Amino acid sequence: MKMQTKLKKIFYFTFLLLFLTGVFYFAIEIFSSSQDDLNNPFSRTKMWTLRSHSILGLWFFFLFGHLYSKHIGPKLRRDKGKKSGLVFFASLIIVCITVPGLFYITDDHLRDGVAKLHTYLGIALIIPFLLHSIFKIDSKSKR
Ligand code: HEM
Repeated sequence: MKMQTKLKKIFYFTFLLLFLTGVFYFAIEIFSSSQDDLNNPFSRTKMWTLRSHSILGLWFFFLFGHLYSKHIGPKLRRDKGKKSGLVFFASLIIVCITVPGLFYITDDHLRDGVAKLHTYLGIALIIPFLLHSIFKIDSKSKR
């Protein structure tokens, strides 16, 4: 089943915003001092970036569920675009699974590891996203 153009656009747009806020937060964290002072505009930008990322993440979860029933589920039974789609889907699932860990893991060392996995895999997601959605690398394979 071909994904509706409107749903596709909403999904791509949300994914890109989620990606950009995540990368932007990561970049600010690298360049900011470890002490967060909310009187400092830099720290406030950092806080609002993470809040926006979190809220977008919630919306993304909803869209992802919708997308599963409308696009991913039906496509799993076909060959067209399946390989690149599966890589994108599996990577997304891992990134999503790490999210509760960001909130509920109390051990600092373990939380740090989960945050790194979320961030680095999140950044790497742009590759399967581009290959599957924009370049459609395996869309010419047989059905
Ligand atoms: C698209 C690629 C993504 C990138 C580059 C990315 C990046 C990041 C980064 C750098 C953090 C901060 C981690 C830390 O605490 O040190 C973060 C946190 C978070 N991310 Fe992502 N992420 C991505 C995808 C997602 C997805 C798919 C979801 C949910 C569906 C999500 C939801 C969250 C949430 C809820 C947090 C915690 C926010 C908080 O602590 O208030 N992210 N992400």
